[in-house]
Amino acid sequence: MRIFIDTANIEEIEEIHSMGFLSGVTTNPTLLAREKKEYKTVVRDICSLVKGPVSVEVLSLEHDHMVAEGKELARIDPNIVIKVPLMEEGLKTIRTLADLNIKTNATLIFSANQALLAARAGATYVSPFIGRLDDIGNSGLTVLAEIIEIIDLHGLETEVIAASIRHPIHVLESARMGSHIATIPYSIIKQMIRHPLTDAGVEKFLQDWKQVF
Ligand code: G3P
Repeated sequence: MRIFIDTANIEEIEEIHSMGFLSGVTTNPTLLAREKKEYKTVVRDICSLVKGPVSVEVLSLEHDHMVAEGKELARIDPNIVIKVPLMEEGLKTIRTLADLNIKTNATLIFSANQALLAARAGATYVSPFIGRLDDIGNSGLTVLAEIIEIIDLHGLETEVIAASIRHPIHVLESARMGSHIATIPYSIIKQMIRHPLTDAGVEKFLQDWKQVF
């Protein structure tokens, strides 16, 4: 499972990127707005740092406008992936962009059927929102498992991005299920790195060493 970071904050991306395991970045309008900077500049900065897929979402809700926005965003960098919300106009947009060889990430996916339609419309990636499903009392991981099963069973080329990750167990279970990618917030990546026994072990090794040398 490849690791993406779910943020538009360049400092967070720089820090995580320096550790060598980062394969891509996902943003959304909320995350980009949080940066309070000209969004295309932020996207350009991210693309110059991370040489992997960088998802940026369209804001229009109607096919022609979504396509125009997608084309404009795709011109920023060859690694740009256009995030398109799963709705009727979104599916049409995914097909049009796929026919233009522009990569797409079908976002706001909450069911396996939505993922299947997006995959058949030509989506490069589908992003089930695990945490938001948990929030309303459904099992996000169950929906993720269904999506992975369907994609594998039917030999679809679409890759699954486990999104809306809220804690390290979401990451662990996504990896065990065979999700292609998980896009993870900065704070959860940090949680994944640290373990109290590692910290205690490092401290003890140093103490023991210093007692003798
Ligand atoms: O990648 C999806 C993510 O940005 C949404 O996460 O925590 O707002 O549900 P969240």
